[in-house]
Amino acid sequence: MKFQELLINWYDTHHRDLPFRHIDDPYAIWVSEIMLQQTTVTAVIPYFTRFMQRFPTVEALAQASLDEVYKYWEGLGYYRRCKHLHESAQIIMAQFHGIFPQTYEDVLSLKGVGPYTASAICSFAYHQSYAAIDGNALRVLSRLDRLHDNIAETKTVKEITKRSNRYIQGYDSAKYNQGLMDLANAICKVQNPLCEACPLQSCCQAYKYHEEKVLPINIKK
Ligand code: ADE
Repeated sequence: MKFQELLINWYDTHHRDLPFRHIDDPYAIWVSEIMLQQTTVTAVIPYFTRFMQRFPTVEALAQASLDEVYKYWEGLGYYRRCKHLHESAQIIMAQFHGIFPQTYEDVLSLKGVGPYTASAICSFAYHQSYAAIDGNALRVLSRLDRLHDNIAETKTVKEITKRSNRYIQGYDSAKYNQGLMDLANAICKVQNPLCEACPLQSCCQAYKYHEEKVLPINIKK
């Protein structure tokens, strides 16, 4: 079986049950992804729930004062994210007629949204085929393909993004992306990956050549 099928089958039975995975509202998914940028899943959950109760729509967020929005962010850190969120809500009201942008380019144009977050939003909310590549995905895919390129280099990130955007074609992109996230978290860990429990073992070139602890190469210069 191809790794994508193995990954999605594993995700179906092993995925983490998280509050922001039961929604298809792009606004809510955007809020969760901004919160998750520099913060752990566990820390984000209560903030996300409170934030969505107070600001259930992009309109509610745009109309609130920045001071009030900060109050709901207090303790999460990286406060620039909060400012960007509020500013982008106003841009969505003014330039997108209050409708959350629906193309990758428009989502990417929002303040505080980079390629990873834009891909996550477009795949989770719209099931568009964009691979979300963060450090976790870089690690899993480097091992799977036994890539010896330095993942700290932009050209490696580009190459892995290109591959993953090819691999995702024809599969449920939300499950593919979140499957990689959960696999990275539970199995394909930075140190001591749990290869014996890995659903991708039969496809993993690093495992085959006993390089799972050598890869990925990550040298920051
Ligand atoms: N990190 C960023 N987005 C995430 C998500 N949707 N699930 C788990 N971890 C994440």
